[in-house]
This record gives sequence, structure tokens and C-alpha cells, in this order.
Amino acid sequence: MNAIAASPVRWYKRPRPTTAPSGFSARLDEALELLREASRHSPCVFAHSLSAEDMVIFHLIVEHHFPIQSFALDTGKLPEATLDLWSRAETIYSTRIERVSPAEASVDALVAMSADSALYESKSVRLRCCELRKTEPLRAVLAGKQAWVTGLRRAQSVGRATMNASEFDHGFQLYKFSPLINWTDEDVWYFTDKYKIPYNVLYGKGYASIGCNPCTRPIRESEPARAGRWWWEQTDPNAIKSECGIHVSAHPSSTSKEVQ
Ligand code: ADX
Ligand code: SF4
Repeated sequence: MNAIAASPVRWYKRPRPTTAPSGFSARLDEALELLREASRHSPCVFAHSLSAEDMVIFHLIVEHHFPIQSFALDTGKLPEATLDLWSRAETIYSTRIERVSPAEASVDALVAMSADSALYESKSVRLRCCELRKTEPLRAVLAGKQAWVTGLRRAQSVGRATMNASEFDHGFQLYKFSPLINWTDEDVWYFTDKYKIPYNVLYGKGYASIGCNPCTRPIRESEPARAGRWWWEQTDPNAIKSECGIHVSAHPSSTSKEVQ
């Protein structure tokens, strides 16, 4: 047999822990405490992307009756599988996830100016698309709120490794809480399997992090979790930094100020 024959690609496979990861119960307690704290800043909303971590948070919010309304940014570019999970989650939990859409005029102007293929050719077109489809609608929904909850985790990328569990978000001018900040991938999947929480079928097809269709691809087993997001912009796959902008604070000190 030819020694240099290409070995088959091994795609990402989600963890399937059958016992609780070490330290898990302390991280679950921390998540519940952060949700408790977040809900004291009323009105508080949860930005639900339908990711596995966000399904965990949604489960905790519903099961523990936290007064936190969930919404999802429907960019108009979400995969069918994500839209399918959205309606399944609403049915299973008998809880609405508010749909937040971009302004029609902005999207029309964007579509008239550039095709999807321009996202790969021009970073400014890509950032403009994220701004119109995600950041602007998010700004509108966060206006007048006291706090928002996100599914950010430090383990997701080197760029997220120093993010805070809670802080004042100077960009959007309200408190921001990330209850799963210290959770590992194993924690997320252990909890998901234990409570039979529904999840996106794309996790079974090599996807580790799921966003809009044109900007998400499956990853190989050896790649970091966010390597499949805006992959054409990455120069160093081990130091993934690309973000859509909704977690980039406009104020440089916000990353160092914890909520008291
Ligand atoms: S992104 O900024 O690169 O898109 P990612 O997909 O990792 O972020 O999600 C991080 C967190 O941002 C999610 O847990 C969620 O709180 C929020 N978020 C991302 N996309 C959406 C979306 N479409 N709708 C609502 N919240 C979202
Ligand atoms: Fe547009 Fe891609 Fe950003 Fe979605 S992730 S808003 S399709 S650039």
C-alpha cells in the first residue's frame, strides 16, 4: 500500500461523557447563581442562538422559572436545521423564543449591493452584513433592558479565554452575564444528554460552532471549535479571532470590570 496515501478526513465528533466531568456541579451552581443575579436586573433578556450551550441556558431558564425572555436574531441566513430546532425547542418547552429580524430596507440595500460571494472577497462587506443582520437588530432589542445573558464560554476560542462571567457592557450600555463561561465542551454535552435537551442535527455532521449558512462549515477533528466560522479570514487556525461584532465591546475597559 502507498505510504503517502491520504488518510480519510476525521470530522469533529461531539463528546459523549457518560459521567459528570470533574468539577461539574460547582460549574452548574455558578451558572444558576449568574442567572439569579442576571434576573435581578429587570428587564433581562437572553440572546439565544440555538447553539448547544444556549439550549442548556434555555433549559435552565425555563426549568427554574427565571424571569428572562429569550430572543433569537433571525439573520435571514440561518441554516434550515437551526430554524427546525427553534420551533422544536418552543414546542418542547412551551416557551416562545422571540424572533428579531433585521430592518427590511437594510437587507434590501445589502442584497442589491453585493451577492453572498462578496462576503468571501471583502472583509468590509462581511462586517457590514454582520452589522445589518446581527448588531443593529441586537442594539434595538437591548435598548431599554437592564441586562442580557449570552452563551459565551472561555473554552470556545483563545479570543474568548479572558472574557468575564459578568460585566457592564459599555458597547450596549447594560449588564452582560455569561452563565456557562467556565463550562467545557464535555459539561455542555453531559448536561444535554442527561436532560435529553434537543440540539441542532448539524453537530452530528462535523459542525462544532454554528452560525449563518454562508459563514459556517464543518471542522476536522484536529481543528479548534471556531475554525468553521468565517474560516477564510483566519490566518492562524489555532488563534481564531474572527467575531461578528456583537461581543466586541466599544469600551476598552469593559473586559476588566466585573459586576459587583
Ligand atoms: S458569534 O458572535 O460568533 O455569532 P456565537 O455563535 O459563538 O457568536 O454565539 C455566542 C453567543 O452570542 C451565543 O451564545 C448567543 O448568546 C449570542 N448569539 C450569537 N448568535 C446569535 C443569534 N443569532 N441570536 C441570538 N443570540 C446570538
Ligand atoms: Fe452575514 Fe455571515 Fe455575518 Fe451572517 S455571519 S450576518 S451571513 S456575514
